Amino acid sequence: MGGFKTLKSKDPEIFNAINKELRRQRETLEMIPSENFASWDVILPLGTWLTNKYSEGYSGKRYYGGNENIDAIENIAIERARKLFNVPHVNVQPYSGSPANFAVYAALCKPGEVIMGQNLTDGGHLTHGWKTSVTGEFFRSVPYHVKPDGYIDIDEVRRLAVENRPKLIWVGASAYVREFPFEEMAKVADEVGAYLVADIAHIAGLVAGGAHKSPVDYAHIVTTTTHKTLRGPRGAMIMVTEKGLRKDPDLADKIDKAVFPGLQGGPHDNTTAAIAVALLEASQPQFREYAAQVVKNSRALGESLKRRGLHLVTGGTDNHMVLVDLTAYGKGMGIFAQEALDLVGIVVNRNTIPAEPSSPFYPSGIRIGTPAITTRGMKEPEMEAIGNMIGDVVDQVKDYSIGKDREERTAEINRFRREVVSNAKVQEVRTQVIELCSRFPLYEGIEM
Ligand SMILES: Cc1ncc(COP(=O)(O)O)c(C=O)c1O
Repeated sequence: MGGFKTLKSKDPEIFNAINKELRRQRETLEMIPSENFASWDVILPLGTWLTNKYSEGYSGKRYYGGNENIDAIENIAIERARKLFNVPHVNVQPYSGSPANFAVYAALCKPGEVIMGQNLTDGGHLTHGWKTSVTGEFFRSVPYHVKPDGYIDIDEVRRLAVENRPKLIWVGASAYVREFPFEEMAKVADEVGAYLVADIAHIAGLVAGGAHKSPVDYAHIVTTTTHKTLRGPRGAMIMVTEKGLRKDPDLADKIDKAVFPGLQGGPHDNTTAAIAVALLEASQPQFREYAAQVVKNSRALGESLKRRGLHLVTGGTDNHMVLVDLTAYGKGMGIFAQEALDLVGIVVNRNTIPAEPSSPFYPSGIRIGTPAITTRGMKEPEMEAIGNMIGDVVDQVKDYSIGKDREERTAEINRFRREVVSNAKVQEVRTQVIELCSRFPLYEGIEM
């Protein structure tokens, strides 16, 4: 086995980029809420010969020979997921979260039927019916919203559902900081005869670790990515609940057929093996501690940010992220905060806020998450320090503005980019970030 040595001499361009990415991850605070650090044991199977195999079909029913080992791997992954999430049926083949959600549509809806999901700029995901996603094009999408206080407007959900009679209602989002009201959403779905599909992509690790209520008693189907709080490889799963099978005894079969042959070809068997390892890790007692710490950390971070005068959507958080509303400094400020934080090595993403006054590309907030830095071992004292660093950086960008029109915006963003690189405070915080990262090593012992 050549390890990284042969790659280094054979393909130095790719080797160098991979090496530089390892350094970047080590020397920055990864605070994008949808990211995490998979363990080396999860990463390992991804780079094996499992990537060579074709396994179209399902265990015991493949279209190709030589699948006895792949069957064993897929069966283990399914069994672990069934046990961990307490569901009767799991499909572990979706390539990622978006294809998993498309497979649910393919199983349940005909083109043109009504679907409901949380509006994108209110925190929802593209695949829940947003206009630029094919899900908004193929189906009649009726989005629901959050109230001005940032909580899901369940009265609006009920009103829209009764008026529009959706076939499917999504619960779950990408930028929502409170516990999802699974029970209330289920009441609405049951009232109008809709399927309730919980997309727990963001919170799967919290659900598995007991730090967020499970949707399994309320939803008919649960989809999730495996690479966020669940700390697995990039991939996804679709789970059918007992409630789902009671509504439609063929639901498991419909989901499996929608994934293959409906939407996909051969599964990524290397990913399936890595998902199995991640599920094993997530069923250990340490993972419950991890999930609880992720939430404690995001609460501590939120309190620290509030002490620095920053406004949080809903005033706090129940999960792994906080959403900072920067409108006190003007609309569309997310880009300045994100880019200045990037320079100091605090990696976050700009995000829309409830009743967004600007646009998804120039939104007025930033989304900050604790899953990855909690994996590194950071706790409340570090959150207090990071909150202060973020406060210091945001103080440096307050006086910029995105302007009235495109021309003004381009000029202002260019001026900001010229000035921020030599900002003394920004440079000082960069040093603090490097020092903090050095105390919490990442992928120790791995050298390229
Ligand atoms: C709630 C939700 N669902 C689905 C997805 C899609 O996952 P992927 O990016 O793996 O397609 C995401 C990704 O961010 C998400 O936040």
